[in-house]
Amino acid sequence: MSQEAWQNDLYEQLAAGSAQEVNPIAGGLLQTLDDRRFQTLRTALLDDLHLYPDASALEVGCGPGILLEPMHERVGTGGKIAGLDLNPHFIQVAKRRVEMLEYDNATFVTGDCHALPFEDGAFDAIVAEKLLMHVGPISRIISEMKRVLSVGGRLVLTDYDPFTIMTAGPDPALTSRVLASASKVYASPNAARETAAACVQAGLYIEKVHGHLMVFEDPYSKTVSGIANVWYEHAASGRLVDRGTARRWLKAIEMTAKEGRFMIAIPYIITVATKVR
Ligand SMILES: C[S@@+](CC[C@H](N)C(=O)[O-])C[C@H]1O[C@@H](n2cnc3c(N)ncnc32)[C@H](O)[C@@H]1O
Repeated sequence: MSQEAWQNDLYEQLAAGSAQEVNPIAGGLLQTLDDRRFQTLRTALLDDLHLYPDASALEVGCGPGILLEPMHERVGTGGKIAGLDLNPHFIQVAKRRVEMLEYDNATFVTGDCHALPFEDGAFDAIVAEKLLMHVGPISRIISEMKRVLSVGGRLVLTDYDPFTIMTAGPDPALTSRVLASASKVYASPNAARETAAACVQAGLYIEKVHGHLMVFEDPYSKTVSGIANVWYEHAASGRLVDRGTARRWLKAIEMTAKEGRFMIAIPYIITVATKVR
């Protein structure tokens, strides 16, 4: 299949909702749109963002337009919504969703968060969920977000801490080693711990830093089996543990799920900052 045909096929399948088979990462993100745990986190982020009618809001690292509908609800038809992501497949999906929902105030662009293609002070509110851990240096990206934020505007950033995830089943010491190895895939695995300080360094005022623990207790949750498999692959590639050890860890989680003792908890840190000048 040519590259172009493959991409069109991917777009079609993403739009048709069978993305998981085509692109597990895109599919995984689309699945989280409906998951009540992610919805709870996203509601908390938007509450922190203090959106109001006619405000202009940007999501950086928006994937397939994760916050499109709830942002639209809050800023109304007089507001402005923008999304930016490095992955053109996601942006294509987001654009299709805008068309389907018949919103005429939402724009999605493919771009890099290191150089946002927006004017200074263009947005009243900016949010980024699980972006900073994938990019770096985070101080540079936060400065860039500050640039496109209006004075008085709010910035809400969240990432989870990959080193402190809890799982029932495997020995906690093994879990720590596996997750430390898996964390090597992230450009900024310490993002959750360092975002607030980076905001201060960028000259932003920190309004609040708080936590959100996302708990998965459903052993049959597709989201979680997907995540555990991804961590297993990452851990093996991180080389702090060998593949056999990582597999033993995954098997212990699967065994726990079979026995109905399943639990994974992922700690998120949410940083809320404002631009005072
Ligand atoms: C883990 S996903 C999170 C997506 C979404 N915010 C969510 O919470 O489900 C990270 C996203 O960041 C995007 N991304 C990675 N590097 C980026 C960059 N340099 N600029 C913009 N987006 C980037 C990826 O394409 C991906 O959509």
